[in-house]
Amino acid sequence: MNYRQDFPIFKNRPDLIYLDSAATSQKPQAVLDAVYGFYKSMNSNVHRGTYPLSEEATEAYEDARKTVSSFINAAHPHEVIFTRNATESVNLVARAYGDAFLNKGDEVLLTKMEHHSSIVPWLQLKDRKGIVLKYLDVSKEGRLIFDPKLITAKTKFVSVTAMSNVLGTIPDLKPIITAAHAVGAKVLVDACQSAVHIKTDVQALDADFLVFSGHKLYAPTGIGVLYAKTDILNQMPPFLGGGDMIHEVFLDHFTPGELPNKFEAGTPHIAGAIGLKAAIDYVNKIGFPVIQKIENELTEYLLGKFKALPYVRIIGPADMMGRGPVISFVIEGIHAHDMAEGFATKGICIRAGQHCAQPLMDYFEIPATARISLAIYNTKDEIDAAIRTLEEIYKYFNP
Ligand code: ALA
Repeated sequence: MNYRQDFPIFKNRPDLIYLDSAATSQKPQAVLDAVYGFYKSMNSNVHRGTYPLSEEATEAYEDARKTVSSFINAAHPHEVIFTRNATESVNLVARAYGDAFLNKGDEVLLTKMEHHSSIVPWLQLKDRKGIVLKYLDVSKEGRLIFDPKLITAKTKFVSVTAMSNVLGTIPDLKPIITAAHAVGAKVLVDACQSAVHIKTDVQALDADFLVFSGHKLYAPTGIGVLYAKTDILNQMPPFLGGGDMIHEVFLDHFTPGELPNKFEAGTPHIAGAIGLKAAIDYVNKIGFPVIQKIENELTEYLLGKFKALPYVRIIGPADMMGRGPVISFVIEGIHAHDMAEGFATKGICIRAGQHCAQPLMDYFEIPATARISLAIYNTKDEIDAAIRTLEEIYKYFNP
C-alpha cells in the first residue's frame, strides 16, 4: 500500500524529499478536507450558541475529544484538554500543578534527553519556587540510564520523553513510572515524537500526565493535547483565565467550570481539533502494526546505509532495539548546517542544529547534529537519494 498518495503536497511538489517529519509531519487529504469542511459548512463558536450551527460545531469539537481520548486510552474524554501544542501543555502543568503543589526543596526528575519544552518550564518553576532539578543520564549509545537512586523521598515529579526528538530512543517508561509512584511522585510523559509512531496507552503506562502536539501526528499546527487523570485535574487550579473556563464570575472572585472547560479559556482551535480527529482516524485506519512495519523497515535500511559509511557517526542507538524513525548523525569536520544546506540544494529537507536539546548536545560534546526523521510516506528511493547526496557532501569537504 502506498500511503504517499494520501498526501497532496507530494503531488504539488513532485521532487520534494521530505525527511523532517519530527519537526512537523505532512498532512493527508483527509485532514485538509476536515479543516476545510468545518470552515465551509460548520463554522461557528462552540459551547456558546443555542442555534443548530453552533450545536453542530460543539458536537464535532467534543467528538474530536472523544477520538483523542480513545486514541490514548484515557478513562474519560474530559481527561483530554486541548492546548496549542505539547509545549503549552507542559507549561500548563508546571504552572498550574507546579505552583500549587511543588515547594522549595522538592525534587523534579527530568532526563538529559528532554526537549527544551520539558526542561525550561521546570527551570522557570525552580526560579519561582526553589525546587531542585535532577536528571537521568544518557549512555554514549544514546539510551536512557534509569538510576532508581535518583528517585528519593523528596521526588515529587518526574518528566520523561517517550521518544527522543534527537536520538530516536524509546525509553522503557514503566520502571520509572512505577518507582516514581512508589514515593508518591507524579509522572508526565512527553509523547510528542512517539504518538505518531507507536501506540499510546495512558492507562497501561499509568501516566499522570501525557502531552503531544497534533502537527507531528499528521494534524494541523496549533492544536495540542494535555492528558491528565481526573482527580489531578480536579485538584489543579486553572492555568489561563477567561471565557468558557468559569462557572460564575463576580467582581471580586470567580468559580472555575467543570472539566475539561476549566483548562480551555477562550475560543479554542475548533478546526484544529477537528483536523486532529481526522488525523487520528487516518492513523487508526492504517493501524500501528502497519505503520511500525513500514517505518522500522525504512529506519533499518537507513541505519544500514549509514553503517557502510565509515565517516558517519550515528548519535543515538545504532540498531533497531528501542528506537524510532528519528536518526541523528554527525560527520567530523563538516558542520551539520553545512550538511543540511547541501541536502537542500538537492531538494532534500533534513533538520540540523541542536533540536531544542542543548543539554544533550553538551553531553555528547557536539555543537549540533544533522537529523533525518521518517514517516509513512517516505521510501527507500528517498533514502538512497539522501545517501548519494551525503557522499557528495563528504567528497566536497574532503576532496
Ligand atoms: N521539536 C521539533 C523537532 O524536534 C520541532 O524538530
